[in-house]
Amino acid sequence: MQLSGKRVLVTGGAGFVGSHLAERLVGDNEVRVVDHFANSSPEWVPDDAAVIEGDLTDPAVIEEAIAPDLDAVFHFAADKAVDSEDPNAQFGRNNEITERVLARMEEVGVRKVAFTSSSTVYGTAPRPTPEDFAPLEPISMYGASKLACESLVSVYAHSYDFTAWSFRFANIVGPHLQLGAVIPDFIAKLDEDPSTLEILGDGRQEKSYMHITECTDAMVHVIETAEAPVNTYNLGTRTTTSVTRIGEIVAEEMGLDPEFEFTGGSQGWTGDVPRMGLSIEKLAALGWRPEDSSDDAVRRATRELLDERQ
Ligand SMILES: NC(=O)c1ccc[n+]([C@@H]2O[C@H](COP(=O)([O-])OP(=O)(O)OC[C@H]3O[C@@H](n4cnc5c(N)ncnc54)[C@H](O)[C@@H]3O)[C@@H](O)[C@H]2O)c1
Repeated sequence: MQLSGKRVLVTGGAGFVGSHLAERLVGDNEVRVVDHFANSSPEWVPDDAAVIEGDLTDPAVIEEAIAPDLDAVFHFAADKAVDSEDPNAQFGRNNEITERVLARMEEVGVRKVAFTSSSTVYGTAPRPTPEDFAPLEPISMYGASKLACESLVSVYAHSYDFTAWSFRFANIVGPHLQLGAVIPDFIAKLDEDPSTLEILGDGRQEKSYMHITECTDAMVHVIETAEAPVNTYNLGTRTTTSVTRIGEIVAEEMGLDPEFEFTGGSQGWTGDVPRMGLSIEKLAALGWRPEDSSDDAVRRATRELLDERQ
């Protein structure tokens, strides 16, 4: 699907990824955003996008937002905390919203959906993990909810004639990223105590980080190029960065030299996947490759988040 002259809805479009995607699309498309601003700000929504404020667990909000005149829905709204305090409720909510969004799309005849899944669907699979790795064994409720939602997306593609793009993201970083993500957490901790940085786990957790501009670029490329009923793509970088290295980069960019204190253990929290690296050969075969390494993405995002703080 060419992304120009289209009328699109971004659920969660005020959030980190959604607001950047809305910004990327707004020049060439009519963009609408639906969000309840739980983890985001109305200020991040581009001026030219229309905003519907509401909670997608409310069927009336879904009915208003998913109108028959849409060409496509980018379904990004989710509770994304991997260490949620109420993981069962998180699982239920993410699935419920996704099922209702898809059912309403089917009802009004909107049949193109882009869905943001996650590397967490792979659990602790060998790396770099390709899209066709099996069996998928997530280790967090969040990962389980993403896998369940991918299944729902697949049902609508195969039974109701949708075209779907499911993106399994690495860790995406950049401006607007909020506390709960490693870079903003380290900045906040060093603001509070510049002499010490507490690192959850043993610091050797090693994951792939991708900058948000490359993430939105890759998404647009895949949507404009891949046309199967279900198009599942990993989005990440070829390289990885350890949590200790992120601590070093953040400290360097803040001009600090803190002591690192590790809480210990191979995981930062229950459900944390200690090592994550995605195969991006399928994406490369479609003609898109990242320019930034994982370390580059972390450094660039750190600089942007420090600028944003001022
Ligand atoms: N950022 C990452 O590294 C990453 C990695 C893997 C997957 N993802 C997925 O990408 C999507 C976007 O992530 P993000 O980082 O932008 O998260 P985010 O929390 O910044 O954005 C999500 C947005 O959805 C909104 N939202 C959540 N529940 C809602 C509801 N019930 N009704 C209305 N609005 C609701 C929130 O207010 C927020 O603005 C999510 O589905 C997330 O699971 C993100």
